[in-house]
Amino acid sequence: MAGRLSLLTISLAVAVGAYFRPAILDQITAALHQHGVQLPFPISQPGPPPQPPSPPPTDTPTSCPPHAYTTQLISLDPLLIYITNFTTPAERTSLIATGLPLLEPSPIIGAPHLAQARTSWSAPLPDDDATVTCILSRAAAFLGPSLLTLGRDEMGSAQMVRYTAGQKFDVHTDWFARPRLLDEDGAAGRRRLYNRVATIFAVLEADGVEGGETWFPHVQAGEGEGWRALEGGTAFRAVPGNALFWVNLLASGTGDARTAHAGLPVEGGFKTALNIWPRVFFGPDA
Ligand SMILES: *[C@@H]1O[C@H](CO)[C@@H](O)[C@H](O)[C@H]1NC(C)=O
Repeated sequence: MAGRLSLLTISLAVAVGAYFRPAILDQITAALHQHGVQLPFPISQPGPPPQPPSPPPTDTPTSCPPHAYTTQLISLDPLLIYITNFTTPAERTSLIATGLPLLEPSPIIGAPHLAQARTSWSAPLPDDDATVTCILSRAAAFLGPSLLTLGRDEMGSAQMVRYTAGQKFDVHTDWFARPRLLDEDGAAGRRRLYNRVATIFAVLEADGVEGGETWFPHVQAGEGEGWRALEGGTAFRAVPGNALFWVNLLASGTGDARTAHAGLPVEGGFKTALNIWPRVFFGPDA
């Protein structure tokens, strides 16, 4: 009799349970348990609708870790500094993931006729990305207080660039022969021109890369870990994590021709890097 009652109760509980919230089911289960009735299976009801899969966790750091780079002075005049471990592996993974979907054929600002001189892909990286913010603030700290004037000059955005087999950037300078007007300043009628006072070129990735060195024909630095003498200048190997910093403008504000450099052709694999071009502004509205 008791067995039949239990079975009935269980059947009822299961039937009723299908229509009630889990809290009620738990109460029924507990009540049955109190009366010595063990359910042979848990009472359950259909759960909430399946959620769309959550995006995979990214490597984006939530805060900017203290830097772990070391530096070597390559040339005093023009100033060129070799930086080891400017970025961490996790930061590089994050930056590449952010930049890859944004890549487009690289423009040459103000010189479309030179398109053959540069063949690569590039993308400005979003300033509000945590890793980008981190790298820009690390770059700003590296520059120190005197290169940019607070309230007037800007770090600018970080720009990712990728060279695949056959791509290159012929000898060029990063500074402009004539200071430039930002599109937004032009649109707003703001009389303010800028030039790229310095460059931080940080290698993010050099997968199976052959060639693709960054060559400074007017800088002599002999041989070193990461660079070699080449045709009277110095060629720096693409080493992920490492960066080059140089100053583009002379104290007078005009461009330093000795900072000319090339991205030598990538013979195989690919190279991904980051450019940061701090800007100094000139003109009445600067
Ligand atoms: C650079 O970082 C790597 C780990 O990512 C480490 O093994 C290496 O010793 C570091 N190099 C220098 C010069 O700090």
